[in-house]
Amino acid sequence: MGTLPQSVRIVEVGPRDGLQNEATIVATDKKAQFVKMLAASGLRDIEVASFVHPRWVPQLADAASLIALLEPVPSVRYSALVPNMKGLERALEAGVRRIAVFTAASETFNRKNINMGIRESIDVFRPVVDRALREGVSVRGYVSTCFVCPYEGKVAKEKVAEVTAALFDLGVDEVSIGDTIGAATPKDVEITGLHLLQRFPVTKLAMHFHDTYGMAVANVYQSLLMGFTTFDSSAGGLGGCPYAPGASGNLATEDLVYLVDRLGIESGVSLAMIRRASHFIAAELGRGLPSRVLQTSAGEKTA
Ligand code: HMG
Ligand code: MG
Repeated sequence: MGTLPQSVRIVEVGPRDGLQNEATIVATDKKAQFVKMLAASGLRDIEVASFVHPRWVPQLADAASLIALLEPVPSVRYSALVPNMKGLERALEAGVRRIAVFTAASETFNRKNINMGIRESIDVFRPVVDRALREGVSVRGYVSTCFVCPYEGKVAKEKVAEVTAALFDLGVDEVSIGDTIGAATPKDVEITGLHLLQRFPVTKLAMHFHDTYGMAVANVYQSLLMGFTTFDSSAGGLGGCPYAPGASGNLATEDLVYLVDRLGIESGVSLAMIRRASHFIAAELGRGLPSRVLQTSAGEKTA
């Protein structure tokens, strides 16, 4: 531990995790423009939508029409959340080529979020992942509440590892470890992260931090020291989960890119272009976004 990696991979989740938690529903063509700007910034993975129940997340009810508007960019993978077979059918019909199934390390949160227990959700995902893989669609997995649950409190690292293993057993190619309510500190990341690294290859894990307590960048740094190289983030720091009380925005993509740029770590993402995309979506939402880097006027020119 202690040597920083040479490069990182950023999974942009702003159009999904970000916009799912906004009071304003952004028009579909504006979302498409936002995604286009994100794709132009050098991002290679962008989670654009969710095929969940439109009543549960009305902000993303236009998933299929949004995907129809997206121009394919050879270097970019667009993905969408899928909670069950109905969601997969909708995603396949829309032409999605990468999906993400999502569960949690805490029973109560999972019930509130997807109306299923953890074991039940894995059973529901099994035929979904099988069918997706048969159709040539790749699958990511998410584990939420890996550090703290808004209902149950502190979450055991063993539980996180158990749920992560269950997702890999289904055939997902990567598992994203979620700090859903942004309450983890670097010490928590070290404890749970080390436990996971004893069981799974680092290249198959992603870190997904929310920034409620302002710890996200510190948690990224801790993760980098441990060898993690995939990070989820959201342009401008948009985001949150509507079923996790107190959850605020994700780690901002600008803040992540600023950090890794300054550490000499390659991300392939242009900070200036991300800032442009964030300003665009902030104007559509009619509010300022929390990213600290976005709020500076000089930003990337300050080194
Ligand atoms: P349910 O009510 O238990 O669903 O909801 P059901 O299976 O009992 O079906 C009820 C009705 O919904 C049926 O219709 C189904 O067809 C329909 P009816 O026969 O009554 O007319 N239905 C659907 N319709 C459209 N699309 C679907 C679908 N599924 C069923 N996919 C369900 C269960 C999972 C659907 C619901 O709880 C749900 O949609 N939850 C989504 C919650 C969500 O999106 N949360 C935010 C994303 S997770 C997150 O943000 C965390 C993450 O960022 C990581 C982190 O930060 O930790 C990923
Ligand atoms: Mg999230």
